[in-house]
Amino acid sequence: MIQSTDEGLMRLALREAAKGLGRTSPNPAVGAVLAKNGIILATGYHQKAGQPHAEIEVLKALSDYPSAKGSSLYVTLEPCSTYGRTPPCTLAIRDAGISRVIVGSIDPNPKHQGKGLAELRRDGIQVTTGVLDKECTRLNAGFNKWIISGRPWVIAKAAQSLDGRLTRPIGESSRLSNSHSIRMVHRLRATVDAILIGAETVRKDDPELTVRYGPTDHQPLRVVVTKTGMLPIDARVFVGEQDTIIYKDRSWSDVLDDLGRRSVTRLLVEGGGQILGQLFDNYLIDELWFFLTPRLVGGDKPTIGGVGVQELAGAPRLVDVRYLRLKDDLLIKGDLQWPKNPSRAF
Ligand SMILES: NC(=O)c1ccc[n+]([C@@H]2O[C@H](COP(=O)([O-])OP(=O)(O)OC[C@H]3O[C@@H](n4cnc5c(N)ncnc54)[C@H](OP(=O)(O)O)[C@@H]3O)[C@@H](O)[C@H]2O)c1
Repeated sequence: MIQSTDEGLMRLALREAAKGLGRTSPNPAVGAVLAKNGIILATGYHQKAGQPHAEIEVLKALSDYPSAKGSSLYVTLEPCSTYGRTPPCTLAIRDAGISRVIVGSIDPNPKHQGKGLAELRRDGIQVTTGVLDKECTRLNAGFNKWIISGRPWVIAKAAQSLDGRLTRPIGESSRLSNSHSIRMVHRLRATVDAILIGAETVRKDDPELTVRYGPTDHQPLRVVVTKTGMLPIDARVFVGEQDTIIYKDRSWSDVLDDLGRRSVTRLLVEGGGQILGQLFDNYLIDELWFFLTPRLVGGDKPTIGGVGVQELAGAPRLVDVRYLRLKDDLLIKGDLQWPKNPSRAF
């Protein structure tokens, strides 16, 4: 039975989990809170693949280990029950004497799915599931898609004028959006495994595609797509320690499958309009971050080029929409809900 404090403590565990997003791939981001009689004893999260899971981190964070006896563990994803790079968390939970485990979402990985919960119950531990299930599942949308389809969750980002244009007059280096939006983009970059752009954006903007504001310890893989292969060898996207992959004349299926094989679970696409248009026409965008700036630039380069929908019934809708004011810019973000379409596998 879900208790009144369960949601509040799971929300805290979710905030812990979010700290790992972008760093844990190909593992999911997971957070945990240990509490007794409503008092928080410790918090923790999975920091990196190969390092301890959230359940172990929270036990490590306890000031005295015996106090875990009789406590409740809030964890955003069901605990694992198998030996991988680390031993099963179910064993550590049992050995610590935890009496109740409250779980957010079930692991879609068939290797784990529900198995850990059955094991905990067998050990006499009380298990409650489904607390903030939707929020906990959404946090790992990337991992969940990747584990089922082998492809990354695709996030399309654009900084655009009010009239839906990406471009500035040629030769102008100032950006469309304000500094608050730019910082937000860097925070988003820090949560993904790879960032992809089209070759024209390399030639026109010469971006670094690195995280330079906020925590900079995680730098995503950089990806450029080109048909001709004509890329300036001294482009900034090839400078620095982080790798850059070039896909020359490959289909989108190939690109996404290959990125999936490289354990990319969250892919950020930063344009330009041709690339966003093709991904849109192929039903490949999962999530959208559009930064609107109150300027008009006109011209013939829309944010999403391509062919476009043939009928309104085929137009995807943004769901779980969030609006965030960033001084005079507006960020609109949400997930794309595509009408049922046989071409869209996920
Ligand atoms: N405001 C923003 O957020 C933002 C973000 C990004 C870009 N931009 C602006 O957008 C403009 C560039 O956009 P754009 O639409 O002209 O170009 P783009 O989308 O950046 O790149 C187009 C190029 O990508 C390659 N390409 C296209 N389809 C491909 C496919 N199926 N497979 C492999 N490669 C493919 C081709 O490169 P090759 O010619 O080498 O074959 C093509 O010329 C720039 O002015 C830039 O400033 C703005």
